[in-house]
Amino acid sequence: MKEILKQIKEVVICGFKDAGYDEKFAMVTLSNRPDLCQFQCNGAMAAAKEYKKAPIAIANEVVERLADKAIFSKCEACPPGFINMNLSDEFIAGFVSEMAEDTERFGVDKVASPKKIMIDYGGPNVAKPLHVGHLRSAIIGESIKRTARFMGDEVIGDVHLGDWGLQMGLIITELKLRKPELCYFDENYDGDYPTEPPFTISELEEIYPCASGKSKEDEAYKEAAMTATYELQHGRRGYQALLTHILNVSVNDLKRNYEKLDVTFDLWKGESDAQPYIPDMVQKMKDDGFAYISEGALVVDVKEDTDTKEVPPCMILKSDGASLYNTTDLATMVWRMKDYNPDSIVYVVDKRQELYFTQVFRCAKKTGIVPADKNLYFVGFGTMNGKDGKPFKTRQGGVMRLEYLLKEVEDKMLEKIRENGTMNEEDALKTAQIVGLSAIKYGDLSNQASKDYIFDIDRFTSAEGNTGPYILYTIVRCKSILAKAGVDSFEGKILPAHSDSERGLQLELTKFMAALTAAYEDMAPHKICAYIYDLANAFNRFYHDTKILAEEDEALKASYLKLLWLTRNVLEKSIDLLGFKAPERM
Ligand code: ARG
Repeated sequence: MKEILKQIKEVVICGFKDAGYDEKFAMVTLSNRPDLCQFQCNGAMAAAKEYKKAPIAIANEVVERLADKAIFSKCEACPPGFINMNLSDEFIAGFVSEMAEDTERFGVDKVASPKKIMIDYGGPNVAKPLHVGHLRSAIIGESIKRTARFMGDEVIGDVHLGDWGLQMGLIITELKLRKPELCYFDENYDGDYPTEPPFTISELEEIYPCASGKSKEDEAYKEAAMTATYELQHGRRGYQALLTHILNVSVNDLKRNYEKLDVTFDLWKGESDAQPYIPDMVQKMKDDGFAYISEGALVVDVKEDTDTKEVPPCMILKSDGASLYNTTDLATMVWRMKDYNPDSIVYVVDKRQELYFTQVFRCAKKTGIVPADKNLYFVGFGTMNGKDGKPFKTRQGGVMRLEYLLKEVEDKMLEKIRENGTMNEEDALKTAQIVGLSAIKYGDLSNQASKDYIFDIDRFTSAEGNTGPYILYTIVRCKSILAKAGVDSFEGKILPAHSDSERGLQLELTKFMAALTAAYEDMAPHKICAYIYDLANAFNRFYHDTKILAEEDEALKASYLKLLWLTRNVLEKSIDLLGFKAPERM
C-alpha cells in the first residue's frame, strides 16, 4: 500500500501544480500541532522566496485548488503560510480497512529491490559466560535482522564468536596443570582424540577466570599461556582438538542462553574461522603496496583529508608477526565476501569500538577486501548502566551474568502475577518468562541504540508507562475482547470514526508503514517502540470511552471489533520485529 503521507502528498502536488507552482514545494508532514490539524505543508513558505510572493497568498491559492478533494475534511491556509490539513473520516476508515485486508503484512510492502545483508551481532566470547555486556548486541541485532527480513531483504545473522587469542591459551595451560595425563598434551600422540570433552561447561567457566587470575600474578604462567596460544595458532594437533571441545561445550551453552532471549543466528562462525584467510590477505596487502612496516608493525594508512579527529593507521600484524583483532575482522570480511557476497555487512557492537571499526572499514575498502559498491555499517550502542549511572553490575560489584539478570526480571514479574492471584503456578511461570523478556527487550530497544540507558527493573517491569509489559497488556486486552466476542476474522469494512478517540486510533494505525520504513532504513528499532507506544495509548483511550461488546448497532460493533483486530495484529507484528511475544493472558 502507498504510505498515507505519500497519498496526501500526491493530492497536494496537484494543488501546487494547478496553482502554477513547482511540485517540489508540496512537502507534507505530520502536524507538529495535533491540536490544530493532523497534517501540514510548509511549502508555501519556501515557495515564497522563489516566487517573490507572500507565503499566505501562495498557501491560499493552493488551498483553493484542494477545496473539493474528498481526501480532506479540512484544508486551510494559516498565517504566515502554513497549509493545515485533516483527512476525512471516510478516507481514514478506507485506508485502515485496506490495511486490514492484507492479513499478513497490514499494508506494508516489501522493498522494491531487496538486498543481501549480513549482520554481525552477539559477539560472545567462548568459555566465558554470557554477561550483560553482550545483551545489547543480541537484542538490537535480532530486531534489525527481523525487520530487514520482514521488509524483504535476505539476511544472514552471524554470531562472530570470540574464540581466538590468549583466552584459549589460558584455558589450555590451566587444563594441562590439572590433567597433565590427557593425550592432548602428549606431543608424541598420533592417534584419534576422544570425542567426549575433558570438561563440562561449569568446569570450563571456572577454569577461565582461574587461569586469567593466575596469569596476572604469575609471569611464568602467562608466558606458558602465550606459548600455548602460539602453538594452537600454529597448528599443534592436540591443542586444536581441545579448541574444538571448548567450542562445542561453550557453543551449546551459548545457544541455550540465546534461546532464552529468543535470539538466533544463522551462522555460528568465530574468529578462528577467519585465520586461514590471513596469510594470503596480508600478502596481497603487501603486494598491492598498501601495507608497510612502521615501528616494526605492519600497517595500512587509513586517514582521510576530511578527518577532524586523528584516525591512526590500521595495524595488520604486530612486530612479532602475531595477528590482532583487526586482522581477524578483516579476514572475516574476506570469507564473508567470498562465501556470501552480501550487499552490506552491519556490525552491532559497543560504540566504544567506533574508531576501531572506522579504521577496519576504511582498510577493507582501500585494500579491496570489500568492493567499493558494498556497504559497511557500524551500529554502535551505548552502555547499559545501573541506577547509579555506572555500567551495570551485580550487587557484589561483579559483571552480571545474563542468566541471572533474566532470572531476576522473571522473578519480579512472577511476584506481580502472583499478587494478582488469577493464574495457576504453571501458567504464572510461563507468563513471567514472556513478560519478563518484553520488559528487558523493550527497556533496551525503546532507547536510541547509541545512547546509554539505565536498567531500572522497577520501571521496566511496570505495566504503566512506556514499557514492554504495558504494550503486552494492551495486546492482551484486545485479545480478550476478541475472545469474548468469539470472532477472529471479519467481513466488511471499518466504518468512519464515531468519536475523537476512535479517529485517533484509526489515524495512528495509518502510520504503521511509515514507522516500519523509518525503523528499517535507519536500523533504528526505537522507532518501532515509539510507534507502538503511541498506538497503544490511542487504543487505550478508545477502549476507555467506547462500549465495544455492549454496542447494539451490529454493524458498528463489527467495525469496532475489526479495528481491534487490526490494532492487535499491528502491535503483535511490531513486537515480533522487536523480538518478543505476547501471552494469552496476563
Ligand atoms: N567478542 C567481542 C567482545 O566481546 C565483540 C565482537 C564484535 N564483532 C566484531 N566483528 N568485532 O568485545
